[in-house]
Amino acid sequence: MREIQKLFSRRDFLNYFSLALTAAAGVVVSVPILAYLFTPLFEKPNREWQDIGPASDFVIGQTVEVPIKDPSPLPWAGETATTAAWLRRTEQSQFIAFAVNCTHLGCPVNWIQSGQIFLCPCHGGVFTSNGDVAGGPPAGPLRRHHVRVRNGRVEIKPVPLRVV
Ligand code: FES
Repeated sequence: MREIQKLFSRRDFLNYFSLALTAAAGVVVSVPILAYLFTPLFEKPNREWQDIGPASDFVIGQTVEVPIKDPSPLPWAGETATTAAWLRRTEQSQFIAFAVNCTHLGCPVNWIQSGQIFLCPCHGGVFTSNGDVAGGPPAGPLRRHHVRVRNGRVEIKPVPLRVV
């Protein structure tokens, strides 16, 4: 015991112990920060075509909300990566898919059927039925996702969220 005491005084032991605790705390704090900073470098955006459903489910002239997966979710997003798009069938085989996010600060816009407008509940942004700005703070039109009909089914390839 005395030999150990010769090697490590009580003061040395406490110094090493506090250094070890500080290093452990540094690791615990830095891992999430490093993951936050470097994840975008390795993240592969989800830019695949997503199946929405049979084209026959959609009525010409109607605008309906459909669920889609966020094109650039964080790996740990889980169910929160599910978002929505406003899908309108304009002709037999023509669709338009609007991003649900307002181009001001990203709030989800609502489609008002009676007024034929998109309305943002956050700051009163108004978009025409074509997604153009009709009033309020948004500086740009609603973004449009890529949309196509394949084998009788509607598919959407989302564009990443970008606020103007
Ligand atoms: S977020 Fe839509 S108007 Fe501000």
